[in-house]
Order: sequence, then C-alpha cells, then structure tokens
Amino acid sequence: MIQNTLFIILANFKSHKSASEIDSYLETISGVVEENKGKVTTLIAPSTIHIPQASSFILEKQLDIKLTAQDVSPFPPGAYTGAVNAYQLKDYQVSYCLVGHSERRRYFHETYVEVANKATELLSMGITPAICLAREDIDPQFAVLEDSIQNQCLYCFEPPADIGGTTTAPLDLITDTLSMIRRYTNSPVLYGGSVTADNIDSLLGLPLDGVLVATASLDPNNFNKIITKASHAR
Ligand code: PGA
Repeated sequence: MIQNTLFIILANFKSHKSASEIDSYLETISGVVEENKGKVTTLIAPSTIHIPQASSFILEKQLDIKLTAQDVSPFPPGAYTGAVNAYQLKDYQVSYCLVGHSERRRYFHETYVEVANKATELLSMGITPAICLAREDIDPQFAVLEDSIQNQCLYCFEPPADIGGTTTAPLDLITDTLSMIRRYTNSPVLYGGSVTADNIDSLLGLPLDGVLVATASLDPNNFNKIITKASHAR
C-alpha cells in the first residue's frame, strides 16, 4: 500500500512547453517547493521528451519534486516502434506516471485493458501509476485492474466536462465520487479539473489526498500560489 500522508499537488503540463522553458519553470518553483516540503508533495509531469532534462535539473539542485510521466507503453521493452516503456522511464528517476487521462482515452482511444496493462508495467519498475477516472470509468476500470495492484496505484477523479475551465465540479459530486472510488481501494485519491489558486480553498475542505492541476500549473508563479495555499491548509 502507498504510504503518503502528505497532500499531493500534481502539475500536468500536457503537450505544452519547450525545452527552454523547463529549467526556468523549475527554477521559479524551487524556492516555494523547498519552503513547503514536509507539508505537501509536489509532482511535475512534463512531456516525455523533457523528462531527461527535468530529471537532471531536479537531481543537480536536489529539489524535492517527484518527476511524473504523462504516459507509458502498455508493453515491456521490445519491438514496439515509437513506444516509451516503464523500464526507460526508470532511468530518469520517474516516480509516478499518469495513466488513462481522459484525453488519452478520448483522442488516443486508450482502453480499460490498456490502462490496466500500463499500470502493471509501471509497478513492475517501481513507478506508481496515477490512474485518471471519470465517474463512468470507475466500475469498468477496476473490473480489469488486478486485485493485487489496486492499492498500489494513485487515483485521480477527473470529470472531462470540468477540465480546462475555472470552475471545479460541484463539491458534493467530488465527495460522492471519492467514496465510489474508495469502495475499491484505500489508496490516495486526487481531484483534477479546473483547479486554480482562486478555488483551491474550497477543495481543501474535502477528504481529498491531492489535486491534479494543468492549465493553472503552466505559469510557475501561479503554481507557487497553489502550493503555498495547500501547504498553509495542512
Ligand atoms: P485543467 O486540467 O487543470 O486544465 O482543468 C486538468 C487535467 O486535465 O489534468
């Protein structure tokens, strides 16, 4: 089972940022991350191509940031052209990996079985899968996740209709969905969907283990505000 008592703040850059922006971003958040370490756990998910660079920066500056991938191959190393596998991610100290984000399910037609296979591949390399779930994904996704790994993954409730805006899903819907997920697992559960520095306070009153932030994480100064607010609420 995952031992993590700290509130998790996961920045998902999606398909944004160039190589030159990665170091300056990490530099800008490094002070706030250090000030608040021990209160929150900060996870950064850049594009796969930027993982080696982000990894070097984090190692060199000894930052308390957990590197997170946005996707992984459902296969082990082998003849799978174009795929980046969990074994390769491990070379760069990747600790977590998003799996089954609604954009992956929608635009890349990722299936429940592929998501489950990705989770198994990641865990075989010691990387924690962060499985994203819309409400309707919960039952079919858990149906194909091996029982033995259900408590080894993180989960993120991400209602697709509430992604990319400035207003989160209704708080009662979030609370209700958390209990649906917790019927299957006692792992940490995050919420993602239009989380901003302005609305995070309302989420901090819910029984959540963290938040997944994309749009509002892209500006490092904005992300610093989110880290600071979450830390002060702990
Ligand atoms: P958002 O995206 O923060 O831009 O709503 C969240 C996500 O899709 O991970």
